[in-house]
Amino acid sequence: MLDSIKSHIGGDWRVIGVLGYPVQHSLSPAMQNAAIQALSLPLVYVPFEVSPEHLATALDGLSALNMVGVNLTIPHKEAAVPLMDALASRADRIGSVNTVVFDGGKKIGYSTDGIGFLTPLHERRFQLKGAQCVIIGAGGAGRAILYALGESGASVSIINRTPTRSERLAAEVNQVWPGIAKHLEWADKTEVEAAFRSCDLLVNATPLGMAPHDKEVEWDLPLRTLPSTAFVYDLVYRPAKTRLMEIAEDCGCETMNGLKMLVHQGAESFRIWTGITPPVAVMERAALEQLRSCEA
Ligand SMILES: NC(=O)c1ccc[n+]([C@@H]2O[C@H](COP(=O)([O-])OP(=O)(O)OC[C@H]3O[C@@H](n4cnc5c(N)ncnc54)[C@H](OP(=O)(O)O)[C@@H]3O)[C@@H](O)[C@H]2O)c1
Repeated sequence: MLDSIKSHIGGDWRVIGVLGYPVQHSLSPAMQNAAIQALSLPLVYVPFEVSPEHLATALDGLSALNMVGVNLTIPHKEAAVPLMDALASRADRIGSVNTVVFDGGKKIGYSTDGIGFLTPLHERRFQLKGAQCVIIGAGGAGRAILYALGESGASVSIINRTPTRSERLAAEVNQVWPGIAKHLEWADKTEVEAAFRSCDLLVNATPLGMAPHDKEVEWDLPLRTLPSTAFVYDLVYRPAKTRLMEIAEDCGCETMNGLKMLVHQGAESFRIWTGITPPVAVMERAALEQLRSCEA
């Protein structure tokens, strides 16, 4: 992709990027450069491997270079928060930044994870208001999703391997929307089973089931109690059909992996940087092609 772009780069071109550690498996360069090319914009999107101790220096340097902005991925999303000059309300609320705009020497932080998560549900006309949801995982993604579901008027039970984390998160969200979040103990099978039985939406926000460990994954949760009406949304997209999705489909549930979330969070970043409506279908196709070429 870069080779074909390089020969056209002129003096008016500007750079966008993604900072991660590691970053080489990121689908964002393929997805964002496909959008840039489709719209013939004088931009290029480049991956940068930046270790946690160099994050602050890297952001200052990229700002000094008058870059348009960057995406941040694991492990930088939370660490970047105090490095911003200003935060958009969602980023501020969830304490996570995945999109930075460099604006006249200032660093403005945004989070597009919530929108990325919600858009595929809206496209399916999934009724979130009043829905009973269960999130597995209380890390950065679980947190963004809990807030997105809270904003949408859903009720959410949250389960995490380390219970103190989900307990704290549920209490924090209940300060904003009283009574919407409940922490469940992973080991309390009776309580978890009851939550699964009445579940409209189950979200996996952990790396469980992700390649290359997808074959040996053991889901130590009563997944087979899910009703066939539940929708199961796995944030994992490598492999495309995860073990969780297979089990859920055995129960008659509809499922979706995390690729659309990835595409929509990237599309929203693109909109923030350029002010232009992103070519989402182009981005999704590029992400899929890149994913398939990595798997081949
Ligand atoms: N599709 C997308 O666009 C998208 C976007 C964001 C994230 N994701 C995916 O979502 C997952 C979580 O990302 P994140 O940013 O939230 O990561 P994170 O902040 O590192 O949190 C990881 C979460 O997974 C849990 N976990 C990790 N290993 C586990 C295991 N073996 N058994 C049970 N729980 C385990 C952790 O529990 P503890 O608290 O006990 O450590 C924590 O809740 C990753 O797979 C990531 O690739 C996808």
